[in-house]
Amino acid sequence: MKLWGGRFESGPSEVFERFSGSLDFDKRLIDADIRGSQAFARALERVGILTADERARIVDAFEQIRTEAVDDPRFFDGATDEDVHTLVIRKLKERAGDVADKIHTGRSRNEQVSLDMRLWLREECDRARGLIADLAGTLLNLANRYPDAVIPGYTHMRRAQAVLWPHYLLAYFEMLARDAERFVEARRRANVLPLGSGALAGSGFPFDREAIARDLGFAAVTRNSMDASADRDFVLDFLYAASTTMLHLSRLAEDWILYSSEEFGWMELGDEVTSGSSLMPQKKNPDSLELMRGKCGRVIGCLNALLVTVKGLPLTYNRDMQEDKEPLFEAADQLAASLEMARAVAESVELHVDRPRQAAAESWVVATDLAEALSRAGVPFHRAHQIVGKLVLESVRRGRKPADWTAAELEAFAPEFRPEMARLLDPAEGMKSREVPGGTGPQAVAGALAEARARLAQMHA
Ligand code: ARG
Repeated sequence: MKLWGGRFESGPSEVFERFSGSLDFDKRLIDADIRGSQAFARALERVGILTADERARIVDAFEQIRTEAVDDPRFFDGATDEDVHTLVIRKLKERAGDVADKIHTGRSRNEQVSLDMRLWLREECDRARGLIADLAGTLLNLANRYPDAVIPGYTHMRRAQAVLWPHYLLAYFEMLARDAERFVEARRRANVLPLGSGALAGSGFPFDREAIARDLGFAAVTRNSMDASADRDFVLDFLYAASTTMLHLSRLAEDWILYSSEEFGWMELGDEVTSGSSLMPQKKNPDSLELMRGKCGRVIGCLNALLVTVKGLPLTYNRDMQEDKEPLFEAADQLAASLEMARAVAESVELHVDRPRQAAAESWVVATDLAEALSRAGVPFHRAHQIVGKLVLESVRRGRKPADWTAAELEAFAPEFRPEMARLLDPAEGMKSREVPGGTGPQAVAGALAEARARLAQMHA
């Protein structure tokens, strides 16, 4: 069955049908397509195209098709329809007979496909947000398991300053909180009804578009029929939100691949999220994290694919736009799988607290603390920086760690040092001066953790 054909003398070639058909992938929209069509049948009744009885028969037949599509794993077997919209109308005709011929009155597949995608995306945004919140909660649990652990923070991949382990994890919590917000925003942008736009010029029937929007739970109606037909921004918004989330997962993955390596030795990943080598018996590889990092590239590729597809398309609908679905589904699937994987990895992590603490103690992450202490005691900061820089140089030359220096030796090195500053040679001490909001001071971090718990509830809402 075709939804067109009158104007043609012969049918499409087999090669064209194979080339242009989208059922293989847009069948994922069947539930949305049917829900949208049921609402449309009710709208057709309101404009007098369908009688109450016809509308009831159509809505009922749609409902049976919907159940069948969910229950019967062979539902799509052998279907050769051009797309999911065609398949649904064919099934409707099979069930409801001639009355089905009225269902497409004043409607275009151009608006229908936009409607279906918007309905599908709304749910997918909620799912993504839920999975992000789950992961964010797991990171908070991981923070609580090692509340006092000290690690060196890095810049330029060089040990920079000591931070609390929960402070490090809260950095990822912030990224995920922004990601969750982006999905709220993506949902808001998808949550607009295009129906009533017709193919591009607005429907020829006086639909109460606000009523259809209410029926389907949309917050608003699109304001311009040409824009509605041509627009895929709402898909791009989702893909950008997905890409950014994946980017964050990829950075977390990279951190933990390093931290769990023999070179770092900070953490152990669970057996259940690692794999071995077919050749090297000793290996325990972080494949779960590597795949998260790898899939990030795929999802960014999906965003790029659609950006490039839409770029330069003349208004309004063009068939190129059918190419939006595979990247969207692909990105959504990879995102959901990666978020679940990240959560499982985070649940499996054991931190060897002594190792990062030792890494912090062996390096000169306390240098800034010392320089700041000097400047609090009245030494101009550039001078303080110079003094501590010389102390580090001297230590590097003589192979001395911070803990090797006594208070007396510090004072002998530079008279500006006071005896009480020696305690800052311990990396856990200096961070106590960083109680500024957003800093790694122990109280600031405890407060941030408590706030994060409360914000988590919002992310789940
Ligand atoms: N399958 C098409 C898509 O995904 C929707 C149908 C519109 N087709 C058309 N020839 N106007 O975009």
